[in-house]
Amino acid sequence: MKFLKVLCLLVGLAMILAVMGCGAAPAAPAAPAEEKPAAEAPAKAKKEYKDLTVCYPQLGAESDWRTANSASLKETAEKLGVKLVFSDAQQKQENQISAMRACIQQGVDVVALPPVVEDGWDAVLTEAKDAGIPVIIVDRSVSADKSLYAAHIGSDMVLEGKKSGEEMNKLLPEGGKIIELSGTTGSGAAVGRAKGFRETLAKNIEILDSQTGNFTTAEGKPVMEAFLKKYAGEIDGAFIHNDNMAIGAVEAIKAAGLKPGDIKIVSVDGTRGGFQLMIDGWVQADVECNPLLGPQVLEMALKLANGEAVEPETLTNETVYFPDKAAELLPSRQY
Ligand code: AHR
Repeated sequence: MKFLKVLCLLVGLAMILAVMGCGAAPAAPAAPAEEKPAAEAPAKAKKEYKDLTVCYPQLGAESDWRTANSASLKETAEKLGVKLVFSDAQQKQENQISAMRACIQQGVDVVALPPVVEDGWDAVLTEAKDAGIPVIIVDRSVSADKSLYAAHIGSDMVLEGKKSGEEMNKLLPEGGKIIELSGTTGSGAAVGRAKGFRETLAKNIEILDSQTGNFTTAEGKPVMEAFLKKYAGEIDGAFIHNDNMAIGAVEAIKAAGLKPGDIKIVSVDGTRGGFQLMIDGWVQADVECNPLLGPQVLEMALKLANGEAVEPETLTNETVYFPDKAAELLPSRQY
């Protein structure tokens, strides 16, 4: 009986406590799981010069300008620790294209292409683009769509032609007859210089003839010999697209018994050879074309390899040299 009373008492007490809310505390809501930071994608390491492989399918070794251009690329690459895949296409576009394809196959970071001629690059530029390899056009221009390459670094060839025309006008103020010894047919340098020259040349100066000497001394000489035979006694001036052809032309002019200044010559490049021709009185003006493009090209290549934006067009600042300062400047010429 006593046990029954105690039991009733306990049950009653439990009921009162439940009504008063003194029951077992409800389970606390689960603490929010500690928030973990979203896993960050590992940042792509920035390339340095020592990580960079640049392809330079050089177009040839036709001139002192070209030799200086190759040396500039090689020396700068060595100084910076860039791996340079260099080749010499011997002035043949098909060799440049094969060299470029080999570089694409190899997976270089950037191709820097000095194109021998303007046309015919679309296919290989598209291949480079599809492979994700940016291309810098160096020195001469291409006619391909700008979307196929990243940038162009080089000279304004039309401006060089205009400067040459201005100098010829000053040399022949009364007018006269001239010949043109042109660079490689279809090259951006020859096309641009011829265009700019014609745009500026005075109306009283007649271009008797224009032939290519392919930018070489060896080919420039026979072309000048042929001009001298064909237009004997008629030639007052010569526009020669580079100093190496001027060297060949002067050999022909000397052999024909003419004296310095009998034919007024405007040449292009500003090489040591051109300076010597000015000192000796054969060339009256030498329009600069700067081949020392290595530092600019490799700096841009690094930016492109790191996905950075670059200037689509970088034109070299150039001047015109004259005989009066040639002897003073020659010792400091780098090419
Ligand atoms: O494209 C630049 C030209 O090419 C230079 O004037 C000439 O010397 C070289 O061969």
